[in-house]
Amino acid sequence: MFKRPGHKPINRRRAILSLGGVVMGASLGHFAARAVADAGKGATQTYPTAPAMPAGAKVHKISLTAKAHKRQLKPTPVAASDIFDYADDDGPLVIRMQQSEWLQATLTNQLKEHTTIHWHGIRLPAAMDGVPYLTQKPVLPGESFTYQFQPPDTGTFFFHPHCNTVEQLGRGLAGVLIIEGDETRPHDHDLVCAYRDWRIDAAGKFTPMMTEAGASKAGTFGDHRTINDQEHPVFQVPAGGDIRVRFLNLDMSRVVDLGVTGTDAWVIATDGNALPPQKLKSWRLGPAMRADLTLRTPAKPGTRIQLVNYYAAQPIVMAELEATGPVLDRPTFVPAPLKPAPIPEPVLEGAETFTLRLSASSASANLPPDFVLPDGSVLRYADALCLTPNTFWAFNGQPWPSQSHEVLPPPLVTFQKGRTYIIELINQTPHIHPIHLHGHTFKVLSSSKGDVVPHFADTTIVAPKERVKIALVADNPGDWMIHCHIIEHQETGMMGIFRVT
Ligand code: C2O
Ligand code: CU
Repeated sequence: MFKRPGHKPINRRRAILSLGGVVMGASLGHFAARAVADAGKGATQTYPTAPAMPAGAKVHKISLTAKAHKRQLKPTPVAASDIFDYADDDGPLVIRMQQSEWLQATLTNQLKEHTTIHWHGIRLPAAMDGVPYLTQKPVLPGESFTYQFQPPDTGTFFFHPHCNTVEQLGRGLAGVLIIEGDETRPHDHDLVCAYRDWRIDAAGKFTPMMTEAGASKAGTFGDHRTINDQEHPVFQVPAGGDIRVRFLNLDMSRVVDLGVTGTDAWVIATDGNALPPQKLKSWRLGPAMRADLTLRTPAKPGTRIQLVNYYAAQPIVMAELEATGPVLDRPTFVPAPLKPAPIPEPVLEGAETFTLRLSASSASANLPPDFVLPDGSVLRYADALCLTPNTFWAFNGQPWPSQSHEVLPPPLVTFQKGRTYIIELINQTPHIHPIHLHGHTFKVLSSSKGDVVPHFADTTIVAPKERVKIALVADNPGDWMIHCHIIEHQETGMMGIFRVT
């Protein structure tokens, strides 16, 4: 596949998509059945189970249908784009619920490929984590799966698929999950701003989600940058009011240095977790990272403030907020802190350190042999959909095996349940990597580059040559993913498992 350098799309999965689906069984009889059963642990593995919902629990029910859909991303006369979505409305799907509630979300898969939902940043039981072959069977086309859990923490989260993510998330399959109940003083307005860049061309057609040049470097970029699917939107906000802006970077490769012009703003949460208010200069957000801001809007109707991205040669205005009357009469603005979520505080004294080196991979993609069937057709060994098409990246010299999620590698490390661990992330590459851990919220302690405000997070950026120390209490038993959230890096090797037992 990788003969030429340049922006060659990686086309890997289409021809072999049907393995694991119903199609094979009928046409190829027991050969197909054998191959599926042999195709790694995935076929025979037992999955974790989740505690049942207690009787009388308050339930927030929602159904999410993953499907292909048309959406007008660029204004007409440009044609509507073929996106994937969980909902019919324009803009990102936002679920708001109370911390005391249980979420019961039934996913129905109307795509032509399997999918799951990963609830990014939620400390939930492993069985609900939505990683195909690791925590559950993939949800095949036509099937349904119900996720059921009580989110332990308040804050701004999101959810997305976890296999062929580059295509499914790239086409828009994601939603925002807000767990309410963290405010010590109510805001007059709560605005979700979901940032992403669409890889579409001038005609509204999707361009390759993964390229060799992108996957091996900083990622592939689109050039249609949007907030809530609109390019440079202007949102109306109450004049003279206190507003909360929940900014989410839902892009697969773009970094944002978030700033506000026209007024002062304070960061009050990172990845959904309360942070004592920090005056905002600019806050760096890699893919998957979130920041909540609080600010007082201008008292004069018609006045605008700007959400700016400084991660560019020239600052880019992503969206504007326009003050509209009637003017609210509020006392002098003091940024109010959020109530902290019940995240266990790492006990650093005596804690063991695990070192994780982020590097390029020297290993080549070693695919196991395929089956040649009597009729001459070829049955691939691995689930083509979760297949690592090539290997560019590794953790501690170990790239995620190219055989997909279906053939799981041994854990990179095993943590004893209840203990604190310090993880030192060392970036030996010339690119930024936003590293994400499942099932746990960690504390970002320090960086070799200095100036870290200690904060809780589920994803943290490690810059070239940087060493970042994070710490967590390994309190959630299971096998969990750790990976780069530049999805092309994740899908070309920068992914692993850590075990808590
Ligand atoms: Cu948001 Cu494993 O990912
Ligand atoms: Cu990366």
